[in-house]
Amino acid sequence: MTIYKNIVVLTGAGISAESGIKTFRGDDGLWEGHRIEDVATPQAFALNPKLVHEFYNLRRRQLKEVTPNVAHEALANFEKDFDGNFLIVTQNVDDLHERAGSQNLIHMHGELLKARHIETYEVIKCEEDLSVESKYRPHIVWFGEMPFQMNEIEKALRECDLFISIGTSGQVYPAAGFVQMVPSNCRKVEFNIDQTSISNLFDEHIIGSAVTSVEKFLKSL
Ligand code: OAD
Repeated sequence: MTIYKNIVVLTGAGISAESGIKTFRGDDGLWEGHRIEDVATPQAFALNPKLVHEFYNLRRRQLKEVTPNVAHEALANFEKDFDGNFLIVTQNVDDLHERAGSQNLIHMHGELLKARHIETYEVIKCEEDLSVESKYRPHIVWFGEMPFQMNEIEKALRECDLFISIGTSGQVYPAAGFVQMVPSNCRKVEFNIDQTSISNLFDEHIIGSAVTSVEKFLKSL
């Protein structure tokens, strides 16, 4: 059995890429000519709610066509057999971790399948399209807004002895700074198909797709 007692896994768009969900900064990084930073903001929603709803409606619909991949499943299976603390903090707004069976999971950037009342902040399930007539907005953390459950995340980071980052470009804070918030003796491992802007902050950088490398690594623990 593994020597680790407190494991935190940070995931980003790269883990869902092989399920068929496009990453944010891959290829030209644009959606119909718009940068993600120009669509995912409160200002964009105030100015052009139709465009912003359309962006998230498309993504919500796409969830019905995709399924979790081996990397999502390997994390869920590992958690089932692990008797320490295991937390996945995902920046992804898809539901592939929960569909794979992950239990202890924080969606720090929100969830496509939830909507939030514009005035009361009530959060409801949302499986269909939202329109400009709706009193609800996507339950998504936009640029300039505070990610969810930061206290819980920081506590887990302070206590963790293995920190794993999978498929994230390290360009969006605070998630990109998590690797610097763990104790100095914590083992830090990054999985990505490429170098990232924060690769140098990890002890190990495993190059390869999440599908081919994550399961193998978890089995080796
Ligand atoms: P990015 O699109 O910025 O980065 C995806 C990362 O995954 C890149 O570093 C790729 O090299 C890597 N990658 C691609 N395919 C992979 C694969 N098969 N296996 C492993 N790695 C792979 O996405 P994020 O880092 O998740 O925020 O982006 C962070 C946040 O920026 C998102 O949560 C979103 C976005 O704006 C909000 O919407 C608030």
